[in-house]
Amino acid sequence: MTAGSACGWAAGVLGVVCLALQFDSISCDSQMFGTVNGSVTFPVSSSVPFTEIMWTKNRDKVLEWEAGSPVRVFPPFVDRVHLDITSGSLTVFNLTSSDEGDYRLDSSSTGDTLFNLKVIGPLPSPTLNCTLAAEDITVNCRIPESYNFTQHLNYSWSCFPALCKNGANTSEVLIKKNNDLSQKIHCTVFSPLSKQTASLVLATCVPDEHSRNRFAIIPAVALVALLAVVTVSLFKRGFQKCGRETERTDPS
Ligand SMILES: *[C@@H]1O[C@H](CO)[C@@H](O)[C@H](O)[C@H]1NC(C)=O
Ligand SMILES: *[C@@H]1O[C@H](CO)[C@@H](O)[C@H](O)[C@H]1NC(C)=O
Ligand SMILES: *[C@@H]1O[C@H](CO)[C@@H](O)[C@H](O)[C@H]1NC(C)=O
Ligand SMILES: *[C@@H]1O[C@H](CO)[C@@H](O)[C@H](O)[C@H]1NC(C)=O
Ligand SMILES: *[C@@H]1O[C@H](CO)[C@@H](O)[C@H](O)[C@H]1NC(C)=O
Ligand SMILES: *[C@@H]1O[C@H](CO)[C@@H](O)[C@H](O)[C@H]1NC(C)=O
Repeated sequence: MTAGSACGWAAGVLGVVCLALQFDSISCDSQMFGTVNGSVTFPVSSSVPFTEIMWTKNRDKVLEWEAGSPVRVFPPFVDRVHLDITSGSLTVFNLTSSDEGDYRLDSSSTGDTLFNLKVIGPLPSPTLNCTLAAEDITVNCRIPESYNFTQHLNYSWSCFPALCKNGANTSEVLIKKNNDLSQKIHCTVFSPLSKQTASLVLATCVPDEHSRNRFAIIPAVALVALLAVVTVSLFKRGFQKCGRETERTDPS
């Protein structure tokens, strides 16, 4: 398999950057991501059986293998790697950030195959937070600040386009206050390896309209009740007056 076809294959699977270098050779560097404590497999598919394989990381040996011999693994990868001698694929387990770097398969069967590994933390759940301005509500989709791999994140909103306008960041949207705020909006955060979603009912962003109405209704009811009481007592008093008057007028 030539380097060019390796690029073509990998591009379909991984989304790959192929750089034609000025060194008269083609370097095909696939960006790979792994999660801390997780594992990653650098995929290779060779059409020819291997007779020897060497994997390196930043030019240090990870492992080497020759047909008829066991696989020899070098620190710090001892007990943390698996080599598939049929495909040539390398799997690294229990990843730490110190595993980041450039991995290369050296083999006469495939030519050079290059991967760059980035190790990221597990994606935490976002929280949705709103701030009120005169006419707009700004809703922010926040990942805890302790998560320091934010440059790899993408945000997407589920929200009617008529309702949500893009904010300064893809991590925020603007909503006009005079919209129907009973709706729920969702923010999904994508890392290269996973996604997390959070949602928010917009009505919780504004001072509660319903309870304000309720507070307006209570005085009105009270006023009506008070008027009724006053009217009734006036009537009563009127009756009593009349009664007394009749009492008074009666004997005379
Ligand atoms: C990775 O595993 C170690 C030991 O098992 C643990 O202390 C650590 O919290 C884990 N890290 C993550 C990000 O899961
Ligand atoms: C990863 O490390 C933990 C201890 O931190 C160990 O129990 C586990 O077996 C390791 N997993 C692999 C696949 O090596
Ligand atoms: C919204 O943000 C403020 C400050 O930025 C914070 O104090 C508050 O806890 C946040 N609310 C939620 C629901 O995350
Ligand atoms: C991320 O934060 C931890 C401490 O919380 C730090 O040790 C690590 O170097 C940081 N990683 C990056 C890529 O900034
Ligand atoms: C974009 O968001 C980041 C954090 O999410 C913040 O630090 C930055 O100020 C925001 N940029 C703008 C233009 O609002
Ligand atoms: C994030 O967005 C950029 C550009 O919009 C895109 O190239 C990249 O593939 C996206 N990443 C993820 C993890 O969706």
